[in-house]
Amino acid sequence: MTVACAPGKIILVGEHAVVYGRPAVALPVNQVRAEATVEDGEEGQGVIVVAADLDLTLSLKQLDPDRALHPLEMTVVGVLEHLGLSLEQNLTITVRSTIPIARGLGSGAAVSTAVTRAVAQHFAVELTSEGVSSLVFEVERLHHGTPSGIDNTVIAYERPVYFLRGERLETFHVGCAVTLLIGDTGTASPTKDVVGAVRQARQRDRERHEDLFDRVGAIAVEVRQAMESGDLGTVGLMMDENHRLLQEMDVSSPLLDSLVEVAKRRGALGAKLSGAGRGGSMIALVSAETRDGVQRALASAGAECVIHTEILPETGPTLCLASSAAPAKTDDWMI
Ligand code: MEV
Repeated sequence: MTVACAPGKIILVGEHAVVYGRPAVALPVNQVRAEATVEDGEEGQGVIVVAADLDLTLSLKQLDPDRALHPLEMTVVGVLEHLGLSLEQNLTITVRSTIPIARGLGSGAAVSTAVTRAVAQHFAVELTSEGVSSLVFEVERLHHGTPSGIDNTVIAYERPVYFLRGERLETFHVGCAVTLLIGDTGTASPTKDVVGAVRQARQRDRERHEDLFDRVGAIAVEVRQAMESGDLGTVGLMMDENHRLLQEMDVSSPLLDSLVEVAKRRGALGAKLSGAGRGGSMIALVSAETRDGVQRALASAGAECVIHTEILPETGPTLCLASSAAPAKTDDWMI
């Protein structure tokens, strides 16, 4: 039996603009995780995938060529093909996850990452983070249509990333401990739909949107520097400004706005929606002193649950690698 895991993620700053080739900063969230278990199955059973939390069982033996593959099926097919193995394996793959689904926390990418790692390890192959990330990116395209690649990247590398589509990926270390609260609105945020709505709005008013994306990109540059130097005051201010720009993109919601406002009133250094928006989650940057008060305030203002996550300064190398996503263009091939 082989077991592998993957964390959730949050976008600290830069969502949506990152789809249009601006930089963004994302962080892994280790407090929620996806886990995949691979066991040898019985002779002739083929590959069976059990999504325990969803009460869903899929069989690769019964693939209907007229039906689009489920993302879990696509993940397994992708990794087996990558390993040069036939689809005729007898395997039972069980998936479990504590990552809330469709809340901007990367649940789909985390599940694909855990399955990809577990299947590869089951056949004694150690994939690199880059290898895992690019396999998962293909599945993300199925989920989201035009993903930037940031979700699969931060989840596969499990480190803070400064991501610029198609240009380069840089991981970085934070200069001091960073404590964030994640407030779940309890409402699904369908990434594909919200990214599609921003695309249409941009088609209607390209100049305005390019300007918004530029301003968000400048925030990402500043936030990365401030995170590295431990300047949390600047990170907070930039998060607030990013939320205002996301409101201008029309991807916030009344509940997201009120959770952001409540967090700020209770002393958060910064707060914003995180992920696609119009539902999903918001994040608040807090200190040891404000953490409990903000957490209670978010819960009483309507957050379905509040997750606490912390990024600690680490030693070790930072990475600078080519990104697996296609180069960013602003033409309509990707949107
Ligand atoms: C989703 O986590 C972030 C978006 O920017 C979409 C993407 O980057 O693919 C909204």
